[in-house]
Amino acid sequence: MDASSRGRLLHRLADLLERDRLLLATLETLDTGKPFLQSFFIDLEGSIKTLRYYAGWTDKIHGKSVPIDESFMCITKHEPVGVCGAIIPWNFPLLMFMWKIAPALSCGNTVVIKPAEQTPLTALHVGSLIKEAEFPPGVVNIVPGFGSTAGAAIASHKDIDKVAFTGSTEVGQLITEAAAKSNLKRVTLELGGKNPCIVFADCDLQMAVEEIQKGAFYNQGQCCTAASRVFVEETIYEEFVHRSIENAKKIVIGDPLDPQTSHGPQIDRQQFDKIMDLIESGKKEGARLEYGGGAVGEKSLFIQPTIFSRVKDHMRIASEEIFGPVQCIFSFKSQKEAIERANNSQYGLVSAVFTTSMDRALSVSAALETGTVWINCYNALHTQTPFGGYKMSGNGRELGEYALAEYSEVKTVTIKLSETI
Ligand code: NAI
Ligand code: MG
Repeated sequence: MDASSRGRLLHRLADLLERDRLLLATLETLDTGKPFLQSFFIDLEGSIKTLRYYAGWTDKIHGKSVPIDESFMCITKHEPVGVCGAIIPWNFPLLMFMWKIAPALSCGNTVVIKPAEQTPLTALHVGSLIKEAEFPPGVVNIVPGFGSTAGAAIASHKDIDKVAFTGSTEVGQLITEAAAKSNLKRVTLELGGKNPCIVFADCDLQMAVEEIQKGAFYNQGQCCTAASRVFVEETIYEEFVHRSIENAKKIVIGDPLDPQTSHGPQIDRQQFDKIMDLIESGKKEGARLEYGGGAVGEKSLFIQPTIFSRVKDHMRIASEEIFGPVQCIFSFKSQKEAIERANNSQYGLVSAVFTTSMDRALSVSAALETGTVWINCYNALHTQTPFGGYKMSGNGRELGEYALAEYSEVKTVTIKLSETI
């Protein structure tokens, strides 16, 4: 299929998402429990933007002409990798679907994608939209199923040339192993995080409190980017904690389909139990529970937004990915100390710095070992900007122009020229 036809198809799919926006947002909320307004405005908006952004790239993917010594000429060509597998999680089912298929199709690949077993609904509706948009059969293949069967089959399949995965670090390691043992397929991974925020005394305090808390509790904390380690300069520590508690009181827990609701349930019992166990460990290990800390009701999967202060680096809540609505607040004295503690993690996905000094913002961001640094903002994800992790948070980059490299092979064509030229 030529480049402009691929662009047209991606735009057509985006048009159909716009047409079915209400239905898709409702399905996404029914499937995940995330607040409806979030599904409608953030997940649908991000999905449509991703399709349109990569639709625009299809006819702009090209190689270079490379000057070389002696009488040779070299051109590089960017070719599709082939069949791209994708295994996605349940926290952003529709958005992750688009983050995977849009750059893959833009570069001319075909896709075999497996939604998470908890959340297949929007992927299946999108399957019908892909047919309606008249993508040729076989270009996008949706395979719902469990991880250890359908997911593992993608990771070890010899006719799949690349796999892109978003999920736990543990499964990321299994996928890398299966890829290595089968056909050395290319692997890109977007895994966990234990993301540090550093809040300096010279920051706009109320803005920092609000942005960081949004980062901590967004999607009930079920985000790889969750703001889970908040380092606050000693002189403003008590005030920061106080304002964070006040801010948390504004969160509305309730029916995710009610537009007033800003906080829904966790995805399933397994995640609920893991989070409650970590909250208990925080209490036992001596962190001070400032707010929340319990389930809502007796049978539900709702967990109160929870704030711990006086958290110490050795505690489980300070090092393990909680993936729930738990904000951990630490205190620091010097910039050097804050950077060292922020970097003291196996993860390196995102970080944030809050200060009014541009000098400090830039020097601290240079020292942080994370794929993204946000300055005076949080969760500022954009289709145009690359996203991915250092260290055990993953390999490769999604979004932006950088993602195209993950879905292309570079072919070097070198031509011997006659001596007379
Ligand atoms: P998971 O990593 O098991 O699931 C993510 C995807 O991988 C799903 O589609 C699943 O079916 C698939 N999968 C599972 N086992 C597989 C295997 N052996 N081979 C191939 N695919 C497999 O994540 P899970 O169990 O839902 O959550 C566990 C923890 O992972 C969470 O508590 C959280 O800490 C982290 N997580 C991180 C996410 C992120 O956005 N980076 C998303 C979801 C979970
Ligand atoms: Mg799992």
